[in-house]
Amino acid sequence: MALYSEKVMDHFRNPRNVGIIEDANAVGEVGNAKCGDIMKMYMKIEDDIVKDVKFETFGCGSAIASSSMATELIKGQPLSEVKKLTNEAVAEALDGLPGYKMHCSVLAEEAIKSALDNYYENQE
Ligand code: FES
Repeated sequence: MALYSEKVMDHFRNPRNVGIIEDANAVGEVGNAKCGDIMKMYMKIEDDIVKDVKFETFGCGSAIASSSMATELIKGQPLSEVKKLTNEAVAEALDGLPGYKMHCSVLAEEAIKSALDNYYENQE
C-alpha cells in the first residue's frame, strides 16, 4: 500500500484555498512543537458562517494536505460545526495519514481554533 492516499497527494499537489484574506476577521497562527512547522489560517466570518477561508503553511506535505482539506471542510459551515472539527476528522477525510504524520493534521485543527479565538476576541 502506498504510504500516502491519493487524496493526500492530490491536496498536497493542488492545495485548495491557499493565500491570505486581506479583510479577514479571524486569523490564527500555530506552530508545531515537534517539527517547527507553521500554519496560518484566515477566515471571513459573517452571520456565524465561514464565508471564506484561506491558509498559508510553512511545513511538510501532510501539513499542507491537512490544511487544504480542513479549509474545504469548514468553508460555508456554521461556527457551531467548525468548532467540532478534529484533526482525526481531517485525517479521515484524507483517507488517512501514516501514524507518525498524525501530528501534522493537529496543526490544522489548532490553526482553526486559534482563528476562532481571535474572532471572539475581536467581538468583545
Ligand atoms: Fe511538521 Fe508535518 S512534519 S507538520
